[in-house]
Amino acid sequence: MRLVKFLAHAGIASRRQCEELVRNGQVKVNGSIITEMGFKVEPGVDRVEFAGKIVNSEQTMVYLLLNKPPGYICSAYDPQGRPTVLEMVKDIDQRIYPVGRLDFDTSGLIILSNDGDFTNLMIHPRYEIKKSYEAWVQGNVKDEELLLIRTGMLLEDGPTAPAECTVLSREANRSLIEIQIHEGRKRQVKRMCAAIGHPVTSLQRTKIAFLSINGLQEGCYRHLSLSEVAALKECAGLKH
Ligand code: URA
Repeated sequence: MRLVKFLAHAGIASRRQCEELVRNGQVKVNGSIITEMGFKVEPGVDRVEFAGKIVNSEQTMVYLLLNKPPGYICSAYDPQGRPTVLEMVKDIDQRIYPVGRLDFDTSGLIILSNDGDFTNLMIHPRYEIKKSYEAWVQGNVKDEELLLIRTGMLLEDGPTAPAECTVLSREANRSLIEIQIHEGRKRQVKRMCAAIGHPVTSLQRTKIAFLSINGLQEGCYRHLSLSEVAALKECAGLKH
């Protein structure tokens, strides 16, 4: 990582101010003053000093909650050139990435972060973080058809865990259902609905654990508070 970026990530100052600090000979790496702008350091290995103190190599953790519109891909780069969720995020210096996935055509809540341990807690099925979805499906869903979703059903990659499911609205040829799952297998909600004979026509993730989509406009994001991050970790059973 470039020395200037390392300093900025560690929260010393803005990137431009960090350039100034390096140019002025105020930064040492492994005991030697470095003024070269492109100088590279290895975080956790090289000893970086500023103002007589060692600069912590841990970078500032960032946690954002974004309401994804349909038509964005949940990865840092798409070989097909489709827009990525990261393109909606401005003013964040850290290299963040989506925590889990929503399909290209699915909308709703997605967390973006640079914290690998946190990401694992959020997406590993072992930690059972609940996610709620609202799905418009074809046809008129009968209560008994939801039993399969509620008790667990067999998909081609194995049985699903029991999931909460209710019908929110019924119209002539379509129904709106709410499903809460904690497994996060690929296209899971769409496959579950198709398996009971009601293919999904549009899907939105409305909740991740206690975080709700209410008040967050599509295409917008907000920082999670420290207490929200701590509470999410607790939801995953990690006391700290
Ligand atoms: N289930 C799906 O089928 N698609 C998503 O994007 C998320 C959950």
